Amino acid sequence: MPVIKAADLAYGRLRSPDLDKQEEFLVAFGMVRAERTRNALYMRGTDSPHHIHVTELGEPRYVGIALHAESPDDLEKLARTPGASPVEEIDEPGGGRRVRLTDPDGFQVEIVHGMEQLAKLPVERPAVNTGEDKTRRRNALYRVERGPAHVKRIGHFVVHSPQFDKTLGWYREMLGFRISDEVYADSKDNIVGSFNRLDRGEQYVDHHVFFCIRSDKAGLNHLSYEAADMDDVMVGHEHLKEKGYDHYWGIGRHSLGSQVFDYWADPWGRVHEHWADTDVLNASVPPNLLGRHELIGPWGEPIPQRFMQHAVR
Ligand SMILES: [Fe+2]
Repeated sequence: MPVIKAADLAYGRLRSPDLDKQEEFLVAFGMVRAERTRNALYMRGTDSPHHIHVTELGEPRYVGIALHAESPDDLEKLARTPGASPVEEIDEPGGGRRVRLTDPDGFQVEIVHGMEQLAKLPVERPAVNTGEDKTRRRNALYRVERGPAHVKRIGHFVVHSPQFDKTLGWYREMLGFRISDEVYADSKDNIVGSFNRLDRGEQYVDHHVFFCIRSDKAGLNHLSYEAADMDDVMVGHEHLKEKGYDHYWGIGRHSLGSQVFDYWADPWGRVHEHWADTDVLNASVPPNLLGRHELIGPWGEPIPQRFMQHAVR
């Protein structure tokens, strides 16, 4: 049995030397400022959590990831594990309490509970017709504005790890992640990537909350955010392109997870993904093993080498 079963992903925590530039990127990416202090920036999506992205002022760095615990009791359980912090009040906007852990590669993992919830931001999206169902939109025109995407929520995080098995074992043991798909290269005992989801029992969750890549380095490959829908990913792409940001990969559809995806780097090379339309699974689905060639999706740009190897500390 794992120590706890994490309830959801909460936020990624980065460090950047210029919070104005960081905010400019995240606004163009489709987030909304929740709060800004002298030394940190808190950005939200259209869903209710107070924030889904934190940037501290400082030298560029991936500090770590944060997840929501289901109960205060789960914080107590984690606080009793070796190397964990005590349960502490979060002295930051959004409040709540947390336990800080350190993963095998030295990155911080915050488990939070009781973060402030805000009113959802309204997003109106037109219905989309299909060939077989062409009156979902009746006497109404498809009109959406040009501009940033509408980031709804944080979906997953992806890391490279040189101690792949240890890192995966650690996240599964501490937070209850379950295997969705694992990917091998050459022979079936050579697992090179592992897609893991939350364990919420009967409840359906995203195909992955955590993807771990076997690597010779440790670092963040990307943070990933759900957009309002597929057109929102496309409109967001045009906007980031107009702003001159660094495009990493996309647009395409993944095979594992099935999302329509698009990847953009912030001014310090931290990659942020937009996606829409993921597969959702509940705990009844057993782990699956696939060859690396099966990673190719049904359409879109093939995976660039520079994205595959991207890991920032
Ligand atoms: Fe992703």
